[in-house]
Amino acid sequence: MATETEEIRGLGHRVKRKEDDRFIRGRGTYIDDIKLPGMLHMAILRSPYAHATITGIDASKAQAIPGVVAVVTGELMAQHKLAWMPTLSGDTQAVLATDRVRFQGQEVAAVIAEDLYTAKDALELITVEYDPIEPIVTPQRALEPNAPVIRTDKEGQDSNHIYHWESGDKEATDRAFSGADVVVALDTFYPRSHPAPVETCGCVADINPATGQATIYMTSQAPHAIRTVFALVAGLPEENIRIVSPDIGGGFGNKVPVYPGYIVATAASLLLGRPVKWIEDRTENLISTGFARDFHMHGEMALKDDGTMTGLRVSLLADEGAFHADAQPSKFKVGLFHIVTGSYDLPAAHVTADGAYTNKAPGGVAYRCSFRVTEASYLIERLVQNAAYELGMDPADLRLKNFIEKDQFPYTSATGFVYDSGDYHAAMNLAMEKVSYRELRKEQEEARARGELVGIGLASFTEVVGAGPHKDYDILGLKMNDGAELRIHPTGKAILKISVQTQGQGHETTFAQIVAEELGIQPEDVKVMHGDTDNTPYGLGTYASRSTPVSGAATAMVARRIREKAARIAAHLLEVSEEDVEFSKGRFSVKGAPDKVVTIQDAAFAAYTNFPDGMEAGLEGVYYYDPPNLTFPFGTYAVVVEVDPDTGVWKVRRMVAVDDCGVRINPMIVEGQIHGGLCEGFGIAAMEQITFDENGNCIGANFTDYLLPTAWETPRFELGETVTPSPHHPIGAKGVGESATVGSPAAFVNAVIDALWPLGVRNIDMPLTSAKVWEAIQAAGGSTST
Ligand code: CDP
Repeated sequence: MATETEEIRGLGHRVKRKEDDRFIRGRGTYIDDIKLPGMLHMAILRSPYAHATITGIDASKAQAIPGVVAVVTGELMAQHKLAWMPTLSGDTQAVLATDRVRFQGQEVAAVIAEDLYTAKDALELITVEYDPIEPIVTPQRALEPNAPVIRTDKEGQDSNHIYHWESGDKEATDRAFSGADVVVALDTFYPRSHPAPVETCGCVADINPATGQATIYMTSQAPHAIRTVFALVAGLPEENIRIVSPDIGGGFGNKVPVYPGYIVATAASLLLGRPVKWIEDRTENLISTGFARDFHMHGEMALKDDGTMTGLRVSLLADEGAFHADAQPSKFKVGLFHIVTGSYDLPAAHVTADGAYTNKAPGGVAYRCSFRVTEASYLIERLVQNAAYELGMDPADLRLKNFIEKDQFPYTSATGFVYDSGDYHAAMNLAMEKVSYRELRKEQEEARARGELVGIGLASFTEVVGAGPHKDYDILGLKMNDGAELRIHPTGKAILKISVQTQGQGHETTFAQIVAEELGIQPEDVKVMHGDTDNTPYGLGTYASRSTPVSGAATAMVARRIREKAARIAAHLLEVSEEDVEFSKGRFSVKGAPDKVVTIQDAAFAAYTNFPDGMEAGLEGVYYYDPPNLTFPFGTYAVVVEVDPDTGVWKVRRMVAVDDCGVRINPMIVEGQIHGGLCEGFGIAAMEQITFDENGNCIGANFTDYLLPTAWETPRFELGETVTPSPHHPIGAKGVGESATVGSPAAFVNAVIDALWPLGVRNIDMPLTSAKVWEAIQAAGGSTST
């Protein structure tokens, strides 16, 4: 017989995803499914140049086509003070270019027409005169004194330098390096990549000219924040703005920013009094919306001869594109890059970061990582692996020697983060056991003796998620707290309204499980609503694995508040005092008389039909959660590869991933998240990259050039778990959505470098295409054939 817990299926149960019913049946509702009466279609004209002055725009021919309703230019937007908009970093970005274009694919004009084909045809009849300027495609060139200044629109901006930022203790770090026995250095580049969600960005803006009500259907990961930004940018009264984000076909950070298309479609609907739909095509998505990464990093580690790590020095140069749009809290210039000390007890660290404008699309989004942790994690894990070789130590032993010990938590890192909890040795030991690490090393030696290239790569990452405590975390000044509203109906069924926005993570299931755990109402009886700003509490949205740590915590807290009231109602029904009532799995019983029971459903009914005198009717509440700290999930990944020295082709023989995200709400969903993240990490390590030619043309503008791993290339993943609950989280959960993408690229690259180290290969920048691997082998003179 099933136990009560299994029946209720709260935390730890593999409840099947409630949302999949509609997805599997093709009954989801995405932006392009929305069709409103009288709806117009918008297409955007984009710059073919990366850097040019606009000397004239003639839209008269386009305007004359039957079916074209309006052509919008930057000049028209400027008349409404909408030619520029704020970015997530508080910079400004052109909505439609007025003076110059600053990246290939930048928005120059828009056509609004009765149908999409007419709108697209009309784009070709708009004549724009450009006067090209030298395009700048690297941050190094951008910072040369004679480089043309890209942001001529910004008063006082006389170079392409955006920021200089420092973290840690420089003097202590210098001292550590001067006393070091060994110093290991690595220069590496984390290439620009793209989140590339299956559904591109888009919106349907519907402004009722009679009431002024603006309803904007939008593929947004952060609908509430977008509403506020719209109110501030467009000057619309916030109570009249309703952002509806229906089903979203993946976000991965790409759908956090406000894009020019949203603003133009909204302005057009306002001016024309008709709904306007804008949906990007794939190329538009890849060339103009939020990129990720693009960090040039230099790292140095100081160590003693016995392998004790004593200091870390890092400098990085970020390529921010033409508008500084990093998704980041305003306090941290490059997000959480100072998590760079990773899982190690490093007494001293110093990080500097500089950002530069270039003629590329803006971005820096939290692509399956919280604010640049991926780059930081990659750097330290590559450095540690190289340090082990320099010292002649096994990379696993070097890690085990330097991990923060379990009893050191809460641990304050050299750059000031307080890690909440961890047991890095346990995760590493489990990964080593699962992959049979020590035996593998022996096998590797034998394989090497036969001339075969086998590599074993490790990465032990610490992620930092759940932004965040209000004193430190905000986006554009909006504090990063989130809410949950819970209503229990008289029949004991519930509606949970959350401020975060699912894009495939399964919130409709896991958040219902949190309510089930706290109140004993079955997940099936808890409907989870999100993505409608009129009908959900305020919050900063879903990205950077913050949903569970913040809104998930709010859900547990509001359920507990409701449980307290339900207990008072139960005491009234049981005719005992409140202190005599105890709660377990949806049942209130009398202490010492377990047969006297009131279920949560009975209490809910009584909340509307038979509540005590003086009590407010109803059973509902709202809670806004301000996390006391971030949560720090972690894990160890181990990858085994074989490299063909004649072709550079490398194959993953095994991939073991041990993750610790504290208490798992739904292990099946967590495993799905990890699989997705590992797949993305593999893609970045092996094939994904957005590059530019010397003219600033984007290479990677479609899925033939921008390679995503398919089921064919993706290796098989073997998962393992340890459980170290977050001490401050109401249910002990840490976020997990991003961890695998953060942790895995270094493991794949370390594996290939491990295979090639004896040949003299010391470094290859991602993506590790077979051509690059082959070239590295040749350059090291280690080829086994001619
Ligand atoms: O913010 P986002 O939803 O992308 O990331 P998350 O909070 O890490 O959660 C991803 C999915 O995994 C959600 O459905 C979570 O509720 C679920 N999860 C879980 O079941 N147990 C955890 N300890 C962490 C997340």
